[in-house]
Amino acid sequence: MRATIIATSLLAGTMALGHEGCRPKALIYRGPAACEDCPESIASRLNSSAPHFEVKFAGPNEDIDITAEALRDVQLYVQPGGGDLDPAWKHTKKYKRIIRDYVSQGGRYAGFCLGAYLAGKDRGFDILPPGSNATDEIDQPGRQVPDQRDTVIQVDWTFQTGKRKGATDKGRWVYFQDGAVIQLLQERSATILGRYSSNGDIAASVTPFGKGWVGVVGPHPEADELWYEGLNFTNPDGIRFDIVHDFIEEIMVQ
Ligand SMILES: *[C@@H]1O[C@H](CO)[C@@H](O)[C@H](O)[C@H]1NC(C)=O
Ligand SMILES: *[C@@H]1O[C@H](CO)[C@@H](O)[C@H](O)[C@H]1NC(C)=O
Ligand SMILES: *[C@@H]1O[C@H](CO)[C@@H](O)[C@H](O)[C@H]1NC(C)=O
Repeated sequence: MRATIIATSLLAGTMALGHEGCRPKALIYRGPAACEDCPESIASRLNSSAPHFEVKFAGPNEDIDITAEALRDVQLYVQPGGGDLDPAWKHTKKYKRIIRDYVSQGGRYAGFCLGAYLAGKDRGFDILPPGSNATDEIDQPGRQVPDQRDTVIQVDWTFQTGKRKGATDKGRWVYFQDGAVIQLLQERSATILGRYSSNGDIAASVTPFGKGWVGVVGPHPEADELWYEGLNFTNPDGIRFDIVHDFIEEIMVQ
């Protein structure tokens, strides 16, 4: 089953995906700008996605840091969720040139929550389309969630890959903590995967940067059981990974 899916992605994409033993590689940032368990949750979702990634962590306290060399044979770079933008940017601004070069030369970026903010120009890697940015959804007119608490939010998600390609799930509940809204100057060259149900703001998009691609998502579709433990809310739809898999796979088929 998996081999069939991978063969399909191989035809659709430009990378040398393929049979077992030739899995695409992903590098996930882990360090002071990431929240606890966030890099690991994404690693699990990458492993269970159709491309069946081989994952390594990189950062200042890992065996490898984020360098041009570390990114050389990597098909996807991931910036996970984390704390506030200001301290996070202090820890990550040294990677700006490396990440911009990597993506512009054909690499792929996936940014979750803080990683979506960090794709922007203001305190970020500046890899969103010109005139576009990622900012706080909680400050937008018509937002569903008005504050920074951990909670769930609703999105209208239009699947771009797999069996449900083209179908939209309205009002799907996704874990959310002060997530980003993606404000695009033009939507023409963008793939919009998710919109916040309450106001139609963009919650997830994939846009080109140079020869590469940038996927950003404001909420946390990667959240698993651990995230909900000890919190006084649950996910009304149950914990499902179809949205996060679609997000990852859409970045890779470009
Ligand atoms: C990856 O997924 C496979 C099942 O597809 C599982 O056996 C394996 O333990 C997973 N590896 C990691 C590192 O999560
Ligand atoms: C963000 O981008 C949108 C769309 O281009 C624009 O309307 C808005 O003014 C921008 N905000 C900032 C703070 O740059
Ligand atoms: C859950 O906790 C938040 C604060 O952490 C509180 O505002 C809210 O009322 C609580 N909800 C319930 C149902 O206990």
